[in-house]
Amino acid sequence: MKITFIGAGNMSEAIIAGALKKAVVAADAVTVSDPLEERRNQMQHAYGVRSEEDNARAVANADVVVLAVKPQVFPQVWGSLQSELSPNSLVVSIMAGVTSETIAAGSDLRVVRVMPNTPSLVGRGASGIAQGALATESDMEITERLMQAVGVSVRVQEEQLHAVTALSGSGPAYLFYLMEAMIDSAKELGLDEATARLLCIETVGGAADLLAASEEAPVELRKRVTSKGGTTAAAIQTFDEQALKEVISAAMKSAFARSQELAQE
Ligand SMILES: NC(=O)c1ccc[n+]([C@@H]2O[C@H](COP(=O)([O-])OP(=O)(O)OC[C@H]3O[C@@H](n4cnc5c(N)ncnc54)[C@H](OP(=O)(O)O)[C@@H]3O)[C@@H](O)[C@H]2O)c1
Repeated sequence: MKITFIGAGNMSEAIIAGALKKAVVAADAVTVSDPLEERRNQMQHAYGVRSEEDNARAVANADVVVLAVKPQVFPQVWGSLQSELSPNSLVVSIMAGVTSETIAAGSDLRVVRVMPNTPSLVGRGASGIAQGALATESDMEITERLMQAVGVSVRVQEEQLHAVTALSGSGPAYLFYLMEAMIDSAKELGLDEATARLLCIETVGGAADLLAASEEAPVELRKRVTSKGGTTAAAIQTFDEQALKEVISAAMKSAFARSQELAQE
């Protein structure tokens, strides 16, 4: 399988590193295309992949073309590239908000869309994968093999990618925000930065691992550690009084609405 990445940014690098490590593809079957010479050289040296300055040359003979540029540059990139693709190429897009219909633009191209997230950089990504109109089961399996090299993947309908964006796409930033607040509070309460950071990271990671290892809903695990009149109960009462659940719900609805808006632009 020959695979070409258009745009050698953070996400491309994460997927390439994971796919090579898990032997999903061979280094000499991977081509990256990027306008920055320094970036191309970096990718070539770090991973032994081929690199091209010219997008059209990069996609010649590719079985899979991964679109990994920012959505804003997509029209410019695609305008000159679409006619260069082999009609048999599978197009995997990780661009937020650009629909498979826009990418196929009335052609017979098979398109699969992916909404990844940044923990892919450390092999803990969570991706939603959606099948475009003409994509096949085999196209979905190829995309899954790629994305599962950097974490877990879940199949969804394309319109559900807005919800995936609001949950796992933007989710890492919600948790960074929460951790930022927890670390700041812990410092106010007397811990030094390094201690607060370590305890916070392990608490968030440990709680996620505990939930993953359990069959129970988060609410059950929460109730188990919330004894009446105890410290956790005091904190949860404050969350409830300040309507934290409503704030989280409103924030996720804003992300969802913004994702829909971006798809219209
Ligand atoms: N990061 C995330 O959490 C995340 C989550 C979900 C989806 N995505 C999507 O993934 C895509 C890539 O994100 P990223 O974080 O990897 O972005 P990024 O690091 O900015 O990568 C984009 C790369 O494409 C290059 N590029 C720009 N114009 C190009 C052109 N005409 N031809 C070829 N390459 C070109 C850029 O080069 P220059 O730097 O020189 O411009 C850059 O190296 C985006 O569409 C984003 O919406 C990202």
